[in-house]
Amino acid sequence: MKAKITVNKSYTVGEIDKRIYGSFIEHIGRAVYTGIYEPDHPTADENGFRQDVIDLVKKLNVPIVRYPGGNFVSGYDWEDGVGDKAKRPKRMELAWFSTETNQFGTDEFCDWAKKVDSEVMMAVNLGTRGADDARNLVEYCNVKGDTKYAKMRADNGHTEPHGVKVWCLGNEMDGPWQICHKTAEEYGRVALESAKVMKWTDSSIELVLCGSSGYNISTFGDWEWTVLNHAYDNVDYISLHTYYGNEGDTADFIGRSVLMNKFIKGVTAICDAVKAKKHSNKTINLSFDEWNVWYHDSHRRGINWEEAPAIMEDIYDFQDALLVGCMLMTLQNNCDRIKMACLAQLVNIIAPIMTEKGGKAWCQTIYYPFMYGSNYGRGTVMQTITECDSYKTKYADVVPYIESSVINNEEKREICVFAVNRNLEEDMELTLSFESFGECETIEHVMLYHDDMCITNGADVENVAPINVEFDKAKSAEHTVVLKKHSWNMIRFKY
Ligand code: AHR
Repeated sequence: MKAKITVNKSYTVGEIDKRIYGSFIEHIGRAVYTGIYEPDHPTADENGFRQDVIDLVKKLNVPIVRYPGGNFVSGYDWEDGVGDKAKRPKRMELAWFSTETNQFGTDEFCDWAKKVDSEVMMAVNLGTRGADDARNLVEYCNVKGDTKYAKMRADNGHTEPHGVKVWCLGNEMDGPWQICHKTAEEYGRVALESAKVMKWTDSSIELVLCGSSGYNISTFGDWEWTVLNHAYDNVDYISLHTYYGNEGDTADFIGRSVLMNKFIKGVTAICDAVKAKKHSNKTINLSFDEWNVWYHDSHRRGINWEEAPAIMEDIYDFQDALLVGCMLMTLQNNCDRIKMACLAQLVNIIAPIMTEKGGKAWCQTIYYPFMYGSNYGRGTVMQTITECDSYKTKYADVVPYIESSVINNEEKREICVFAVNRNLEEDMELTLSFESFGECETIEHVMLYHDDMCITNGADVENVAPINVEFDKAKSAEHTVVLKKHSWNMIRFKY
């Protein structure tokens, strides 16, 4: 089959905010304990952080990491996790039915984030708690001085503030599963009043309002409209969350990013409708702060209140890597409104990085499309004219056989093309026409491919890993490349 992508230097979508390559560490299962923190591990540093995990996280080049939840945050008392570790209480953790030891908390996470060169996206508890604890946590993290919480942080060994810029006003407050779920009216009021006192404590912070936890939740749309009507003037972003599962039809599954695009366009429209209604000059942008594939592991809660139970440890296969690649391209192509996004999550829990307790750390199939996207998807996203056949699925009438994004890195004079060939039977001959860029030469073509859509990686085996593809070195304004059937590709050009 054939396809063509035409780009012109003058026609762009926008600049990528690097924070779209964020991720997420929640206190669930083994994400923290035996994931990023394991004091007895052979690679542990003086803080108990696993160095083997730090190395793999750094290769992903993750600029921001959300913490401490997720559903966990809606029952969390952050004060339990600071100060003398010997005095920190164990708590019954009601989001995931496990025991939280609190041996790792706010200060440890901020220290860990620094080690992996990331910013922190901190969530506050608007479930069991509210505005008071939220503003206290902002003071604890960001204020220098001798007031109660600023002093508490300094007494706990951190004289300098952590400087957390991005704050989430709770998590998935629209979901009946949430600890202290709220209606849109209830949440809109609490979010507004929390936002006010948090920004009064530190006016430099940015706030993310909870949007819907999925496009198909029955309150979608009304929720965004109501909460934005309450809090529009006091927040900066609204969140979106989405996870896709596989119902056994690969063509349908790898086409799901089309639905993600629909979700983004819908939320953008509602933000702009509220803007118009309010006669506002301010634009609310989007934070897609939970996205991934999630369906393999059905163990979603601990049993018997175990500490760090092995739950939600999805082992990803090759087709999951294709969809994750397509979802990341969808985020890139919406960079005019998506300013932050978090692959949920980062370690052990529905994650690109897995660990063995006391043993190895290894990369899942989905690690690679994310790694290349994050490292090379920096710059200006180009508008494209894409000519390609499409197919129909159970959920979408039009799924193009190609999913792609084209990014111009002006500083390096490089064009990076990400592309998935969704055709399960045929290779694709793709013509790339770089109008007005002049002659370009190919500098790299990396592919992810496997015959077996269900193949996985493991601690001792890497079945899905980047493959270098041979390319033509000729300089030209038009290039033709072959995208193997059901493959993910990154092709870089120098101009
Ligand atoms: O990422 C796992 C969970 O999914 C999060 O805790 C929650 O916000 C979402 O439902």
